Amino acid sequence: MNKNKYYNIITYGCQMNEHDSERLAGMLEEMGYQHTEELADADIILLNTCIIRENAELKVFGKLGELKKYKRENPDLIIGIGGCMMQQDEPVDEVYKKYRHVDLIFGTHNIHHLPNLIKKIEETRERVVEVWDEEEGLIPDLPSQRDSDHSAWISIIQGCDNFCTYCIVPYVRGRERSRPVNSIVQEAERLAEEGVKEITLLGQNVNSYGNDLDNEINFPKLLEALNKVEKLKRIRFMTSHPRDFSDELLLQIKNLEKVANHIHLPVQSGSNKVLKEMNRGYTREYYISRVKKIQAEIPEAAVSTDFIVGFPGESEEDFEQTIELVKELNFDMAYTFIYSPRSGTPAARRDDQIDEKTKKDRLKRLMDLQNKISYDKNQKLIGSTQEILVTGPSSNDPEVYEGRTSTNKICFIEKNKDLIGELVKVRIEDAKSWTLEGTVI
Ligand code: SAH
Ligand code: SF4
Ligand code: F3S
Repeated sequence: MNKNKYYNIITYGCQMNEHDSERLAGMLEEMGYQHTEELADADIILLNTCIIRENAELKVFGKLGELKKYKRENPDLIIGIGGCMMQQDEPVDEVYKKYRHVDLIFGTHNIHHLPNLIKKIEETRERVVEVWDEEEGLIPDLPSQRDSDHSAWISIIQGCDNFCTYCIVPYVRGRERSRPVNSIVQEAERLAEEGVKEITLLGQNVNSYGNDLDNEINFPKLLEALNKVEKLKRIRFMTSHPRDFSDELLLQIKNLEKVANHIHLPVQSGSNKVLKEMNRGYTREYYISRVKKIQAEIPEAAVSTDFIVGFPGESEEDFEQTIELVKELNFDMAYTFIYSPRSGTPAARRDDQIDEKTKKDRLKRLMDLQNKISYDKNQKLIGSTQEILVTGPSSNDPEVYEGRTSTNKICFIEKNKDLIGELVKVRIEDAKSWTLEGTVI
């Protein structure tokens, strides 16, 4: 065993990567390693990387450079790098050749091999590279070391088959693979027994859940099965692809009492021309009608979205269509991104790329508009009663506690240790664009 040995994992990217890091941590803990916040004390440092946009990559290379000093101070330190960036040849070559202090390179399809890979390095002290193109057979359920006692992620479907023309995910996460329903329900039951109140179901496109399985299961039916898990209080999920957001799913969200009133439905653009070139599989009109139906059926639900500005060929008129869509749909929240060409994707090969200044200008216009809408929407909540799951001290101010509403809005409350992990009713006293303030009632 590795008594008195320590690890640290640095994670970039989305919730799927965060969850993979929990599993990497789970395996290291089973090997006897303990977590440390201090990189200088670590015997193993792992980087779990993201390649979705260029700035994600730049951050990783910056961090790798920084880690060199720890290796100099402690030559026995094992530095490993895994995740989506390592599923692409170019960054693997660059890390292997230019960052000699890296001992281990692994991919997204072989994280369950981590213990073997580490043992190999410990025994031989040689550099190890193991990146699989795809998974081999059924991957075992892995232990996971969670940050929170009360909320947990559950992976329900891996990979993506959509091939949006800007996106690297299908290349680095492979084809869609749904996890068997029994294994998901059993994990939810186990977590609920351990005190978890809220689960978040993860997948690049949760609406495709079950398409690749033989039985009749689909995502709405999975929600129904999970809604029956006693002791579980809330079920969240992300991400929904608008094309596959069915009426059946809408009704389940409305009728199943544990399913949270929050739908993240990335639209990307308001222009039909751009949507087509992105290969999103829906039109502006279809998207608007979907959101309007959600708003009519579940008026209390929050809808959030993602936008990409500056996709190749996006004209001022195309962008204005996005602005108009935002005004029409009143999203609760939006993540806005500047288009970043990703090597190997069709959109990156186009010769009508948009200049940086135009992209930044469009981003600002869109963000200013959405911030105002989010602010106005949150202001309307002042005086209302909301139920929040209290998670503990806020990361910005430990003297204040925070929790999330069913609609996924962050709400600050007074410090009170007894409330951690509890669902409590609060009266909303104040509101900003991204956060609420409340008093417990
Ligand atoms: N599977 C989800 C989200 C995947 S990535 C979905 O289909 O919606 C999260 C977000 O990153 C995307 O919604 C998109 O807005 C953004 N994104 C993906 N690739 C990008 C790129 N090349 N440049 C800029 N933003 C990108
Ligand atoms: Fe990327 Fe599109 Fe798949 Fe989302 S649906 S992960 S944006 S290819
Ligand atoms: Fe997620 Fe980034 Fe990979 S967004 S799936 S960690 S490329």
